[in-house]
Amino acid sequence: MPVLEARALVKTYLSRGAPVRALDGVDLAVERGEFVAIMGPSGCGKSTLLNLLAGFDRPSAGEVWLGGQRIDGLSEAKLARLRRRRIGFVFQFFNLLPALSVAENVELPLLLAGQRRRAARRGAIGLLNELGVADRRDAGPALLSGGQQQRVALARAMANSPDIVLADEPTGNLDSAAARGVLDLLGEARRRGQTLLMVTHDARAAAAADRVIRLRDGRIVADGRLEPARTVPDLLDLGGDQ
Ligand SMILES: Nc1ncnc2c1ncn2[C@@H]1O[C@H](COP(=O)(O)OP(=O)(O)O)[C@@H](O)[C@H]1O
Ligand SMILES: [Mg+2]
Repeated sequence: MPVLEARALVKTYLSRGAPVRALDGVDLAVERGEFVAIMGPSGCGKSTLLNLLAGFDRPSAGEVWLGGQRIDGLSEAKLARLRRRRIGFVFQFFNLLPALSVAENVELPLLLAGQRRRAARRGAIGLLNELGVADRRDAGPALLSGGQQQRVALARAMANSPDIVLADEPTGNLDSAAARGVLDLLGEARRRGQTLLMVTHDARAAAAADRVIRLRDGRIVADGRLEPARTVPDLLDLGGDQ
């Protein structure tokens, strides 16, 4: 049984009174432990798809299934609880809480899950260390660069070891060394059995996935599994553009 599934998913927004069909019948089944990259031009519906899969927004038609449960009709409270338990989400524009420090942002999901303050702090600092931003632990998010905020957002999403991680362009603002740190962390998560969906524009980031889906005008136009084998550091050392 797929861990996450979209069935005939449609999302229509109203933009200045005119309907914009952001998703136009998307069928997608993600198996447990898969690492899926979603690619496609700007405006093709990638963020919309991720938001619907996480239950942040509701489809205009179609269904979203999580672990065998249909979730698109659940109440906000139930969706929030489900997300807190099962989903880590990295927003395209980070959405860090400005009133909290970097470390507090990452601790928050751990505290909400019932961890004690000291353990939550330890977990947060460990993740920030892995991502190379632990030295900014006491700063407010606004004082960080875009790339640093992105890594803090990833640390927050991973803090609870959620079984599903949805990441919207998690390497979008990073230089290649920082991107490597992010992809290493995602690779480790997959080895631990977590399921990952990552929106990306970066072919090298996509090469770290085992399956690449291409969206265009709100539809899936390609869906292919890649050869396993190469490691993320190999792929990032290939050189070429960037
Ligand atoms: N809240 C919204 N209101 C109106 N139109 C939206 C909204 N969000 C997204 N769109 C439109 O839906 C389409 C898909 O957007 P999006 O999912 O953000 O694409 P991507 O992430 O692939 O760049 C675009 O045409 C975008 O302008
Ligand atoms: Mg987007």
